[in-house]
Amino acid sequence: MSQPTRRQVIGWGLAGATMTAVGAIGLWQGRRPQGAPRSPRIRPTTDGSAAGDGTGPGAWAEPQVLASADGVLELGLEAAPTTVTIDGRSASVWTFNGSLPGPTVEVSAGDTLRIRMSNRLAGPTNLHVHGLHVSPRGAGDDPFVTIAPGEAHDYEFVLPDDHPPGTYWYHPHHHGHVAEQLAAGLYGVIIVRDTQPVPVTRERVLVVSDPLLTADGDLAEPSPRERMMGREGRQVLVNGQVRPRLEAAPGERERWRIVNACPSRFLRLRLEGQTMLLLARDQGRLREPVETSTVDLAPGNRAEILVEATEGTSTLVAAPVDRGAMPGMMGGRRPGGGGPLELLRLEVGGKPVDRRGAVEAVPEPRDLRGEDVARRRTLDFAMGGMGGGMMGNGAMMSFTINGQEFDAERTDVSVRAGDVEEWTLVNSSPMDHPVHLHVWPVQVIDDGDGAQDEPRWADVVNVPAFGQVRVRVAFGDFTGRTVFHCHILDHEDLGMMGTIEVA
Ligand code: C2O
Ligand code: CU
Ligand code: CU
Repeated sequence: MSQPTRRQVIGWGLAGATMTAVGAIGLWQGRRPQGAPRSPRIRPTTDGSAAGDGTGPGAWAEPQVLASADGVLELGLEAAPTTVTIDGRSASVWTFNGSLPGPTVEVSAGDTLRIRMSNRLAGPTNLHVHGLHVSPRGAGDDPFVTIAPGEAHDYEFVLPDDHPPGTYWYHPHHHGHVAEQLAAGLYGVIIVRDTQPVPVTRERVLVVSDPLLTADGDLAEPSPRERMMGREGRQVLVNGQVRPRLEAAPGERERWRIVNACPSRFLRLRLEGQTMLLLARDQGRLREPVETSTVDLAPGNRAEILVEATEGTSTLVAAPVDRGAMPGMMGGRRPGGGGPLELLRLEVGGKPVDRRGAVEAVPEPRDLRGEDVARRRTLDFAMGGMGGGMMGNGAMMSFTINGQEFDAERTDVSVRAGDVEEWTLVNSSPMDHPVHLHVWPVQVIDDGDGAQDEPRWADVVNVPAFGQVRVRVAFGDFTGRTVFHCHILDHEDLGMMGTIEVA
């Protein structure tokens, strides 16, 4: 096992209270700047503060934005080992195009997005556009593609004209390597532009990630136990930085697009002292923004929030989340344990400005509760079969759906195109499993805590330990074969993934 020793962990600094230095990572410091096949329009980040060069401790930085023009965006993404600076120290990670996170891709509904994905890693990889409602066929969002080291693959994603605006993301999806490649730094944001504008002072992208690094800043190998729990890095970064600092004037309203790109870590976000409203989650806007004190993001989830600055200095924290434990786990660190982690600091000061205009309500989305259900299914997410002692000897528990581990050759769920189905997601294990379906968003009917009032659309739904959740899915627009899985990506890599074919 090459789990970092306790000394190394302390050396690298536990995130949160014990961190004193606040560092910044240069988004432009990567050693492998890469050109795109054809130059897309590159727009500087909207915030005039420190964004862009990312120099200086605590400086705010966001990934470069590549925006579509005239209905098309073409770009290259190269996954490669890269040396970056995190918290003032050099770290060896894997990035897209030399930046951590990779570039932000901005498109509109109806656009065509072409990406040449190149693999400069030592192992196989591929690319997935998480949450986008696009075809899994042809050069589309096909999770069965293998891009061998040194090779490239040309993807083409065609967004339907009515694609919901919102915050989505991209990451590699090669079975067996997904957790490893996300924990190493491979992810980026996809924005589908608004159709109804939201009046704000500025927009920010916040990619939250927890790379798994040793004290020396090298990629760490998780222990078997960490894999079964779902690996969690010791430091939680925002846009590749440790606790960056933001400034706003009283009365300003910001829109934050937050992505949980951690392979396993659940985020319970709080921002005390300022007003926080939930604007959108995963798939589309809420009818109207709702004031909230807490935003919960399972791995893979996104939320858009409005932050209305009032006064003083506030900290965005990730509070600990109990996501269960492994069967027979005696003592030791529970996943999600520890104190609250500080993600960023917002300093409100200067001359007050007038609040921006009201946020208009958006039309209610489709509601499948009134529609005919063609078929009902139950999917059981389970962990078991622990042979021998689990610690130290490398023995692994099995991670299954309806008793089976992932097999790319087998089709687990066959659906008739156009049908609405109702799925009951059962968790018969003592750990939470955030369940994710590709291509088709799901409507949450009952999240385990009770039925929903408004139609709530998502693409990752947490199924609590020993709990169950009911969703409905409308299999419209596309046919083809893809996957559903637990978005604790170690669980997915260990087998908790199934295949689905819509024909
Ligand atoms: Cu975000 Cu199948 O993944
Ligand atoms: Cu996905
Ligand atoms: Cu899981």
